[in-house]
Amino acid sequence: MSNRIKLISVTFLYILVSISLNAQKLKNGKKISRDLFGLFFEDINYSADGGLYAELVQNRSFEYTPTEQKDWNPYSFWEYTATGYSFGRISVETNSPINPNNPHYMVLDVEHIGNEAKFTGVSGVGLKNTGFAGIVVKANEKYNFSMFVRQLSKEPISFNISLQTAKGKVLAEAKLTTNSTDWKKYTASLVVSESDENANLVILATSEGKLALDVLSLFPEKTFKNRPNGLRTDLAQLLADMKPSFIRFPGGCLVHGDGLGNMYRWKNTIGPIEERKEQRNIWGYNQTAGLGYFEYFQLCEDIGAKPLPVLPAAVSCQNSGNTWSIGGTGQKVLPLSEMNDYIQEVLDLIEWANGPVTSIWGGKRAAAGHPAPFNLQYVGIGNEDKITPEFEERFKMIFNAITAKHPEIVVIGTVGPSPDGEDFTKGWKFAKELKVPIVDEHYYTSPEWFISNQHRYDTYNRNSTEVYLGEYASWGNKMRNAIAEAAYMTSLERNGDVVRMASYAPLFAKKDYTQWKTDMVFFDNTKVSLTPNYYVQKMFSANQGNYYYDNIILKDEKDMNLAASCVQDSKSGDIILKMVNFGKDAKLFKINLGSFGSIALQAEQSVFAGNADAENTIDKPQTVIPVNSTIKIKKSFEYYTPAMSLTVIRIITKEIK
Ligand code: AHR
Repeated sequence: MSNRIKLISVTFLYILVSISLNAQKLKNGKKISRDLFGLFFEDINYSADGGLYAELVQNRSFEYTPTEQKDWNPYSFWEYTATGYSFGRISVETNSPINPNNPHYMVLDVEHIGNEAKFTGVSGVGLKNTGFAGIVVKANEKYNFSMFVRQLSKEPISFNISLQTAKGKVLAEAKLTTNSTDWKKYTASLVVSESDENANLVILATSEGKLALDVLSLFPEKTFKNRPNGLRTDLAQLLADMKPSFIRFPGGCLVHGDGLGNMYRWKNTIGPIEERKEQRNIWGYNQTAGLGYFEYFQLCEDIGAKPLPVLPAAVSCQNSGNTWSIGGTGQKVLPLSEMNDYIQEVLDLIEWANGPVTSIWGGKRAAAGHPAPFNLQYVGIGNEDKITPEFEERFKMIFNAITAKHPEIVVIGTVGPSPDGEDFTKGWKFAKELKVPIVDEHYYTSPEWFISNQHRYDTYNRNSTEVYLGEYASWGNKMRNAIAEAAYMTSLERNGDVVRMASYAPLFAKKDYTQWKTDMVFFDNTKVSLTPNYYVQKMFSANQGNYYYDNIILKDEKDMNLAASCVQDSKSGDIILKMVNFGKDAKLFKINLGSFGSIALQAEQSVFAGNADAENTIDKPQTVIPVNSTIKIKKSFEYYTPAMSLTVIRIITKEIK
């Protein structure tokens, strides 16, 4: 047989294999959720401002206050700067702001611009911003500056905008002249001559006069998918690489907030950035809402994930004002007289996401640049709330209104912060009575807990409310934590007919700005450290299936350190095997793919193994990483899982590369 004929017959045989495999085997599998593994995003640990959100200026709108941090105020992260023997004055004022949501602005009174022959630099009066512990710029790259100015004196005012090293060396500069006594936006492009990790942004008025300044912003031109007001490329890309089914947003405790005034209200986070309402972040800093609902939905679309917004259940966090420390409940509730408006706010979100452009809120989405609907399917109501009668009353009102107007929306309820206990029991009872489709379980606990609770969901009722495991993690970022989670995740796949979704939490943590110790990805202004937990999450979420098969992988069933699952993705036909060994020695697994009929000979294998105490850090980010290879397999084969490991074998059924 010639090589060409051989190739044609192999290809033909292969197509037959794929077709028969897709047609036959899916029937015998148990249908499981397509949306099982997704992401939880909360602006905790500087995840958004100073993190994923690519804005480089800190306190761009002069809205920082001492309620966020004792020594913060509207001047924080800004320095008054006068050069070349110039002088002037600055003050923060609130009369006629750009928008009532953005009340503070800086007034610059330029009294004198120096003109001394001995000074060779740019003479001026203005401000310097130090960014989020320095501004990172790269040689030859473009940075987009913008600011709002209202001239308080009649004459136009000229500006020199520059990026400078800490020692004052100019890396990029541009000039601007104002021409309006109304608030007006001015923009400039800065192309940087050399890279610097600790640059400052300097805005100097170079002619005399008085003016108001607000929303001084600097973005790299290169953001994820080049979106304006966009996201840091490296951080967004590593989320995309995970191929998550969904992204939950904006939290976490950030959702219900520290008191009623601190609840996350979605309408404050859309529209032009100068009209968004900044507020105290429950985790002790400021949130600009620059990464708001629009940017979040856009991110979901850009990486192929379903949005899962979580809205407050009209009650604040029960720990408001640190009441957890006295064992009390600080839960505050919206007065019933405000519930109609609040319910409308929830319904408006659905219209904003899915409504036609001719609707009020669909029109606002279109005006922001997205006429097509975002296809919102899930909405969470409440986060870990204390299950009080007041909570139940409000949740029920919101739930009934959503289901009456939008039966197509799947509502997710909440059952407290623990895997059991009073709120868990009361929350489940309430959700079942109300026929809430899904509830959100949360637990942070030891690796051993995850190993010994792998059968938790085996006995959950399949004909009742389903589970979204919205926040979970074992305490730590070592290999043993990640592998315990991997074992547990095989049990989520096995129970994917009752566990609809799951997301590890929290996602991001900025080095030196961390409020929560165990996180999935650590980063600083330039570097990223992917934890073992990240790799495990990625190996599961990038290898999801929608059919589950028992009895394909055989192992010692008495050994709780061993876990396995076999799923198939009906779109690609690929069969995915996951094998976990939490023990100290290599262990044998036997795989029998006989019931799949013919199978492809080639598979992609990813082995993630390491010392139980191994971890990655910002300075040593690659201590433990998965090792990928292409392997040949047989219908039936044996595999020794290394100690403390997760192995994923993906049998490619449609295409041999
Ligand atoms: O993930 C961190 C926090 O843990 C979340 O904000 C909260 O919901 C949970 O208690």
